[in-house]
Amino acid sequence: MQISVLTEIDKSETRVALSPDVTKKLVAKGVTVIIESGSGNKSNYSDKQYEEVGAKIIRTINETVLNSDILITVKRPDEKILQKLNKSAIIIGQMDPYVSKDLDGFVKYGHQFFSMELMPRITRAQSMDVLSSQSNLAGYKAVIDATSEYKKAIPMMMTAAGTIAPAKIFIMGVGVAGLQAIATARRLGGIVTATDVRPATKEQVESLGAKFIAVEDDEFKAAETSAGYAKEMSKEYQEKQSQLIAEHIKNQDIVITTALIPGRKAPILVTKKMLETMKQGSVIADLATERGGNVELSQPGKKTINSGITILGYENFARLLPTDASNLYAQNILKFLDEIVDYENLQLSINYDDEIIKGILVARNGQLVHPMYQ
Ligand code: NAI
Repeated sequence: MQISVLTEIDKSETRVALSPDVTKKLVAKGVTVIIESGSGNKSNYSDKQYEEVGAKIIRTINETVLNSDILITVKRPDEKILQKLNKSAIIIGQMDPYVSKDLDGFVKYGHQFFSMELMPRITRAQSMDVLSSQSNLAGYKAVIDATSEYKKAIPMMMTAAGTIAPAKIFIMGVGVAGLQAIATARRLGGIVTATDVRPATKEQVESLGAKFIAVEDDEFKAAETSAGYAKEMSKEYQEKQSQLIAEHIKNQDIVITTALIPGRKAPILVTKKMLETMKQGSVIADLATERGGNVELSQPGKKTINSGITILGYENFARLLPTDASNLYAQNILKFLDEIVDYENLQLSINYDDEIIKGILVARNGQLVHPMYQ
């Protein structure tokens, strides 16, 4: 059984699909792990660290790599590799099927593709949930970066020279990223408020010591899908929500937006008009820019300043903590490998009727097989 990891083709990607820690565990199970030289550099994982735990380092993509049983990636692999890769190989990564469904070019070579971000939100799959592991880091890092852009202190400070008022921090969207953002903002001493459209979040927000703010009408009471996600809200609700946010946001110093709806464009929650009412020097971190953004004026991948308000539109805040992000991602992958590898006989053993397999198998035998394509 041979598993390979290559350097990500997206130059802005800082993460690597396997960390030395997880490589060590795979090698201990008898797996041959091949790492392309330098692929861990941006995550501060050197070739030497991988070698020390038993991985083989390759400098060019040779026959050995092309004969791998499994190729693990963070994002989509290089199509040129797929053309030559052993047809029975499986590819595990994040194929971005929601953002762009154009996977045809990739699947035509006949490999099996597993897309980790489609992992079902069931208890058994929690340890394989890459969205959670990465969102958690993103929520933390967004607060850290926003507070470092903010030109004032966060906690209340009573000094002989006078008192500094605590910063007001508003978190929009209370999923995994939002909850971590609340916890981080509270630890820094901010006065934290948060909003969401799912009623279950109210108690979670309050249990973290923050104040919950939302339009709590009948639509709100039914806004959670059976999978635990938010529904797309009606125009009427969006208008009421917008009025509430407009009133609240003008007094906020830092805003962190994390609102997403699976398979859809992110809702715009902060309009240009609202932005103009905010205090000069306020900072917004928009975690939804990869999916269109929650802030009307945010620009993907960029820090911009509009009417004195700084907007951080970095496409992926987890990428800014690549050492931890890669290691947690690799731990998620390891748990998934436990589901599909028979380590005793060092061969693949995939149960295609299993809920997890059905949930994340995107393509097989040259066909897109996931229900989203039916
Ligand atoms: P997400 O990343 O899809 O969305 C972030 C948040 O934005 C959600 O809380 C959503 O309700 C909110 N949102 C959407 N539209 C909004 C709007 N118009 N205004 C304000 N907020 C809006 O969410 P994430 O982090 O993926 O979590 C979704 C659910 O999955 C949660 O219930 C979470 O607890 C659950 N979950 C379950 C897991 C498991 O059981 N394995 C693992 C991780 C999360």
